[in-house]
Amino acid sequence: MKTLTITRPDDWHLHVRNGAILKTVLPHTARQFARAIIMPNLKPPVTTVTQALAYREEILQAIPAGIDFTPLMTLYLTGSTTVAEIKKAAGSDPVYAFKLYPAGATTNSDSGVADIKAIFPLLAEMEKHNIPLLIHGEVTDVHCDIFDRERVFVDTSLTDIVDNFPGLRVVVEHVTTTEAVQFVQAASNQVAATITPQHLLFNRNALLAGGIRPHYYCLPILKREPHRLALVAAATSGNPKFFLGTDSAPHTTLLKETSCGCAGCYSAHAALELYAEAFEHADALDKLEGFASFYGADFYHLPRNTGTVTLEKSTWKIPASYGENETLITPLKAGEEVGWKIQSIHEAN
Ligand code: DOR
Ligand code: ZN
Repeated sequence: MKTLTITRPDDWHLHVRNGAILKTVLPHTARQFARAIIMPNLKPPVTTVTQALAYREEILQAIPAGIDFTPLMTLYLTGSTTVAEIKKAAGSDPVYAFKLYPAGATTNSDSGVADIKAIFPLLAEMEKHNIPLLIHGEVTDVHCDIFDRERVFVDTSLTDIVDNFPGLRVVVEHVTTTEAVQFVQAASNQVAATITPQHLLFNRNALLAGGIRPHYYCLPILKREPHRLALVAAATSGNPKFFLGTDSAPHTTLLKETSCGCAGCYSAHAALELYAEAFEHADALDKLEGFASFYGADFYHLPRNTGTVTLEKSTWKIPASYGENETLITPLKAGEEVGWKIQSIHEAN
């Protein structure tokens, strides 16, 4: 049997929510990833260190017994975030970054930042304390075509941020376009990007294949094939600026399969296997370990993990759903086959 053993990976962009859904989804991530950057877009958002510490406790309670998993917390930037909170976050071990959502860009982003220039004093403080800024890179202008929102953000706000704060570590989250990839490649080593499994595996046709497919709808939205190919090339290039971030974003099946469905693909159930499939298609399985297990840790100035995960080349069928009743979730590729399977995990060497 063909197998692939890599150092235990981390997920540098993850939504786990809270309450009952958290308990359904967290075991999927904790099983395969040693650490994950936890997104703060709860209702209400996690805007203070105090809230982040309480949320971290709730996550720790949801980790299955005997599994070693560390949540890395982030704070949600708003127009009212204070310089004092940034200082406090910089001095708080469990908090690793701030997340910038342009107001209205995506799920639970209403409290996000309406005027990016107005938060420049906050970015200066983050630069001073060497705490990373994670960016949802899309403009929110409703007149801007949804497929152009990332490209326009790169040309305007992102360029502005990176030019004004050359010392600030920035992660352009879930890049989806050739333009964002090129921006990150050309920027300094302070700038990196995460890439999701769905943007490596699918183009925008998946949204409308024989009918409307809500479980492929996420933001930034899937793009045309040339963009997908640019993402695959970046992820498999061995360039340490590009690393794994699933953006696994659970919403109940009820909230996805409706007249105005929520944005977000749930991928934590098979995240590493889906990435393995994408890397295999690109004939680049030898590049998976750097992308999944090394480059993100290096960027966040954290030690690389010491355990391993072994994947085997074997086909299994993804269940139609996970959870039940009010936590029923339809996963990415529900009912379809995936060609890799986690065979064993060793938490430390
Ligand atoms: O599709 C998305 N879902 N994109 C995001 O940026 C947020 C996420 C969510 O929280 O559901
Ligand atoms: Zn996200």
